[in-house]
Amino acid sequence: MPNRKYMSIPPGAIIPGSLPRFKIYIISQSGRHILWAADGEKVTIEQLNKLAEAGHKEVYIDLEEEVAYEEYLEEHLGDILANQNMPDDQKAAIFSRVSTNVVRDSFEKSFNLGNVSPEIIKRTQSMVKKALIFIAESNSLNALAKMIGHDYKTYEHAIKLLWFTVAFLKNNQDILEEINPCYKELDDVKKRELLEQCGVAALLHDIGKALIPQEVLNKKGPLNEVEWEIIKRHPLGGLAMLLESEVPLFVKKAILEHHEDFNGNGYPMNLKGNQISVLARILRIIDVFDAMTSKRPYKDALPPSKAVQIMVGINSEESKTQDCEELDKRDIGIRYCFDERLLKKFILFLGKIAA
Ligand SMILES: [Fe+2]
Repeated sequence: MPNRKYMSIPPGAIIPGSLPRFKIYIISQSGRHILWAADGEKVTIEQLNKLAEAGHKEVYIDLEEEVAYEEYLEEHLGDILANQNMPDDQKAAIFSRVSTNVVRDSFEKSFNLGNVSPEIIKRTQSMVKKALIFIAESNSLNALAKMIGHDYKTYEHAIKLLWFTVAFLKNNQDILEEINPCYKELDDVKKRELLEQCGVAALLHDIGKALIPQEVLNKKGPLNEVEWEIIKRHPLGGLAMLLESEVPLFVKKAILEHHEDFNGNGYPMNLKGNQISVLARILRIIDVFDAMTSKRPYKDALPPSKAVQIMVGINSEESKTQDCEELDKRDIGIRYCFDERLLKKFILFLGKIAA
C-alpha cells in the first residue's frame, strides 16, 4: 500500500444525505487511519450522529483527494454555512478556502480569456449570496474579527474585502440608500440583490491585476516608474474586463474608482470628493485598512487600532520624525485619501466587531 498522507477536516463539513466523491477516514484507538465512508457513498445522519457520540472532532481525507473535497465544499457551501452545530470559525475557514479557489479561478480564467465570462460572474454571485446568508447570523462578526491580521494575498484580500464590505453595509442602511436612492422602496429580494452586487464589486475590485505581469505584481523591491504605471492601470483593466458583463453600472464604476482619493490625488482619473462613487469610497477605506492590518512579506501586520490612527491622521506629524521605522512612508498623510464621514462610520463598525 502506498504511503498515504492525510489531512484533517471538520465533520461538520460533511452534509447528511450527500455523496462525497472522496474517501473519509477516522483515527482508530491505535492511531491508524481507518476507512469510515467510501467515495460515492451516501453519508447518513445516523452515521454522523454516531461519529459525534464517539467524540470524533476531526475526520480525515487522503491528500490526493483534496481537489474532490474542495469541489464538494463549493457545491455544499450553503448547507455547511447553515449547519448550526458547526463553530463559526470553522465555517469562516471553509468559506475562506472555497472563496479563495473561486477568486483564484476567476483571475486565472479571466487572464486567459481577456474578460470576465458570464460563468465567472455567476459563480462569484453564488459565492456572495452564501457569504450574505452567513453574515446575516450575528455571531459571524466574531469570525470576521478573527480574519484581521491574516496574511495579505491577492485572493484572500479580495475575500476579506467582500466580508468587510457587506457586513459594514448591512450595518449602515443609510449608505445603501446613497448607493441606490430608491433603496427604501425596494422589496427584500431587491435589497438583498443590491448588497450582493456590492459584494461582487468587493470580490472583483482587483480583477484588473490579472492583466499585470507576475514579475511586476510580485516584485519584492521597490517599483520603478514604469512598473508603477503598469500597476496603476489595474482599475481600468478591471473595467475593460467587466465592460460587457451583466454586472450593474455602479459595480463597474466602483471597480474603476477604487483607487481614487478624496483629495483628488488618486488614480486613474484624479476624481475628487463626491465625484467618486460612494461604493468606491468605501472600498478605498476597507482596502487600505485590510492592507495595513495584514501581514506582508516585507511588513508585519499593524494592530487595527494603529491602522485606524494612521488612517485618521492622529500622530501623523510625529510619525514623520518618531515612528518612521514602524510606518510605511506612503502611509503618512493617507487620511486625505478618505471620505472622513464614511471613515467615521467604518471606525464605529470596527468598534462593534471588536466588542
Ligand atoms: Fe486595487
